[in-house]
Amino acid sequence: TRDKMPPLKGDILVHAEESKEGQPIKISDLSDQLVRAWPMGKGEDGSNVIRKGDPNNILALYRFKKGEIVAPTVLEATVDGEVVAYSDVCTHAGCSVADSDQGDGMKCPCHSGQYDPKRGCVVIGGPPPRPLTQLPIKADGEGLMVTDFFIKMPYPYQHEAEWEAFKK
Ligand code: FES
Repeated sequence: TRDKMPPLKGDILVHAEESKEGQPIKISDLSDQLVRAWPMGKGEDGSNVIRKGDPNNILALYRFKKGEIVAPTVLEATVDGEVVAYSDVCTHAGCSVADSDQGDGMKCPCHSGQYDPKRGCVVIGGPPPRPLTQLPIKADGEGLMVTDFFIKMPYPYQHEAEWEAFKK
């Protein structure tokens, strides 16, 4: 069913937090604190379908200051280099990743995997084997729209040190 389909081009992003679930995300709702979202598309009858039937569709959104988001984030798939969307499913064992309580990126509550959302969610600590996957988005009025599938990368790097070496 369509609520289990992955995010599709043309879907809009809506809040996942229970108190606001289904409300369209506004770019102005976002900051450097994680906001979770679901993609929402159309059902067969044209009604809105929140794609939360598959827990792997949960997304993590951030809005940083211009210039703070750098490679390996794919900047063309962000909104103005400021708003970025990632899968919020840890690449280690699938837990939902949260903001680090130390204020340095994201941290997984299950086994302390750490990711840097300003650098393509490259792994900066713990056991995750790969970065969190980036989802291409664009502005849609005050909101956000999906423009493509999750970005598939060969990930020649997995951890921060490998990424730094790969850049050279
Ligand atoms: Fe995230 Fe293990 S599931 S670190």
